[in-house]
Amino acid sequence: MRRARLPFRVPTVLLLVAVAVVLSSCGWSLWDSPMTTVKPKSDFGKGIQDLFMLISWWTLGIFIVVEGALVWACFRYREKPGQPIPSQVHGHTVLEVSWTIAFAVILLIIGIPTIQMIFRTQEPEAASALRVEVSGRQWWWEFTYPEYKFSTANELHLPIGRQVAFHLHAPDVIHSFWIPQLGGKRDVVPHRVNRIMLTPEVPGEYLGQCAEYCGMSHANMRFRVIVHTKDDFDKWVADQRKPPVEPTDELAKKGQELFAQSTCVGCHTIRGVSGGAMAPDLTHFGSRKTFAANLMQNTPENVAKWIENPAHMKPGVLMPDLGMRGEQTKALAAYLTSLK
Ligand code: CUA
Repeated sequence: MRRARLPFRVPTVLLLVAVAVVLSSCGWSLWDSPMTTVKPKSDFGKGIQDLFMLISWWTLGIFIVVEGALVWACFRYREKPGQPIPSQVHGHTVLEVSWTIAFAVILLIIGIPTIQMIFRTQEPEAASALRVEVSGRQWWWEFTYPEYKFSTANELHLPIGRQVAFHLHAPDVIHSFWIPQLGGKRDVVPHRVNRIMLTPEVPGEYLGQCAEYCGMSHANMRFRVIVHTKDDFDKWVADQRKPPVEPTDELAKKGQELFAQSTCVGCHTIRGVSGGAMAPDLTHFGSRKTFAANLMQNTPENVAKWIENPAHMKPGVLMPDLGMRGEQTKALAAYLTSLK
């Protein structure tokens, strides 16, 4: 008895299933990850998403037409037994010219909304916009709010419903500012100020990341974005504008003394205590959830480990090991994390 021949061999089917599973899981994790670009939470992100979907649908239509014609031609003109060699054709001028024109027209149609979107991102900022001066540095982010006259690091707080105008500065090398869920990205280039404008629409916590290779700890150059309701944002601003809290417990007091006597003051600002400008402002360090460009949870244990060996956590970091150990780092960490 002859066995019926399957149109596909079993290994081929298994391979296709495996590829489908991998692709769908990739797709799912991209959809759901904190770095997703397909769930925009700002007007700018939505604009980019709409453009992306528009082009995707158009190209899906083109794909179906082209692949449909190809498959149809494969079956329709398949070689049949005993068939003579068909007439040999070398080029078809009318066909070639027409599909060249057709695709030029398609590119032109895609180009129109794309260019419109590019121009939209370069419009002047609204007079009521919240301006944030962003400095991308090796390897951390500084956020200065000129309107409120303070700086923070690696933690960007924004209100919903108000346009934010980021002015991007690069004091050292090229970086790229990117908050996938809010839209982007834009290069941060030395000797010029690039801008990006967006209005956050959904309160929540989003992740940002440097998206341009900028040296050893490029991948560690992250930040967090917290989008608040208006009242919560005003409260955060009021807290940040306050002078640093005075330590109350003995360990933190000792830490404050140590800080003021150490070379920390050459790089870090704690308002009223020190005025360094090369490294993150620590006035309200304890209010931040993470530190070291969003690498570590902000706990006294982690801060102590960081002070003893910063390069272990962030390779290439400019902050040196100041030789402080044991009780000294414990005291410093207690002081810094008390700066809520
Ligand atoms: Cu900064 Cu990559």
